[in-house]
Amino acid sequence: MKQTILVTGGTGYIGSHTTVELQQAGYHVVSVDNFSNSNAAVLDGIEKITGIRPDFYEADCNDMPAMEHIFASHPDIVGVIHFAASKAVGESVQKPLKYYRNNILSLLNLLELMARFGTRGIVFSSSCTVYGQPDVLPVTEDAPIQEAISPYGNTKQINEEIIRDAIHAGAGYKAILLRYFNPIGAHPSAHIGELPIGVPQNLIPYLTQTAAGIRAELSVFGDDYNTPDGSCIRDYIYVVDLAKAHVAAIRRMLCAETNSDALEVFNIGTGAGVSVLELINTFEKVTGVSVPHRIVGRREGDIEQVWADPRKANEVLGWKAEETLSNTLLSAWRWQQHLSDR
Ligand code: NAD
Ligand code: WQD
Repeated sequence: MKQTILVTGGTGYIGSHTTVELQQAGYHVVSVDNFSNSNAAVLDGIEKITGIRPDFYEADCNDMPAMEHIFASHPDIVGVIHFAASKAVGESVQKPLKYYRNNILSLLNLLELMARFGTRGIVFSSSCTVYGQPDVLPVTEDAPIQEAISPYGNTKQINEEIIRDAIHAGAGYKAILLRYFNPIGAHPSAHIGELPIGVPQNLIPYLTQTAAGIRAELSVFGDDYNTPDGSCIRDYIYVVDLAKAHVAAIRRMLCAETNSDALEVFNIGTGAGVSVLELINTFEKVTGVSVPHRIVGRREGDIEQVWADPRKANEVLGWKAEETLSNTLLSAWRWQQHLSDR
């Protein structure tokens, strides 16, 4: 019998890739999304890759009766992966209440329903943003949490605390917090990928749109940082590798023999820091396409440099980032070409 996993935000960027990996690993996926940042065509993409259409509900995780209906219709849900959230850092500064309501209420609803329906565990999408600018690099899971610089980042910290408190109070389910570094790239099939709406705020979609001629040039936000080439450093993780980390987390949580702690935290990154200028160079080299770019001033709120120590995930989850940066960038470029052709 297939185990059933509820995936919230299941048609989003990371949720869709994780759905594919879960289905390919033999899980039955019940997916929920309100299409606030995705659309129904993503379900076609998933089906093209795996041959299986997820059991999909168009619903808002903040809508308690709707979520209750999903749990009641699938009493066999054993685990939840909670991706659904608003994620635009800049918008969260303009509309903080939208972010607090959407990101926090949806988690509260889920945790309450999990307790009522006896769900065994939740995997939560956290972020390296909780570390701010770490004093020690690479950053480990026990590094101090820094004061959040945006309401979005604050919702990740608050949600981690909500989960921690619920577990300490004896919630009866397990939780794994995955702190993602910078997810990039797309499925090798180019049937699913990231869907930026409007002008992209993140580096990779802006870069691929510039390479495709949709944007005139890419602004590099600063070359006067204390890094080897002066541009910021991040840990770019291939989205398919990231999706596989969720399968590993679900396996660990649901395996009766694993005597794991009720709450565990893992960094999900490659362990390698890459600068903005290195990334542009690598993209140009592997695609043969030039990316017009110009150095401009620093972006407010940017962290100078951060990359993961992923050894805990490597050893405990048995998961490791596999794909090269070159192939990851090629997958992002193929996805951009697919979007441009539509
Ligand atoms: P995404 O916007 O592509 O996916 C989120 C999905 O959730 C979207 O399809 C959206 O329509 C849906 N959604 C939002 N609010 C909802 C609600 N109330 N009810 C139902 N559906 C709702 O984002 P993503 O990049 O796939 O991110 C997934 C998760 O990972 C988020 O929690 C995000 O904060 C976290 N995360 C993302 C990154 C990143 O850089 N992409 C990094 C760290 C953490
Ligand atoms: C990467 C690097 C920019 C755009 C954000 C969130 C974080 C997490 C991931 C969810 C930085 C530089 C970017 C551009 C540039 N999300 N850049 N020109 O800022 O590391 O993280 O997304 O949790 O919380 O803050 O990602 O892709 O925006 O930027 O030079 O047009 O690219 O300065 O160094 P970031 P990003």
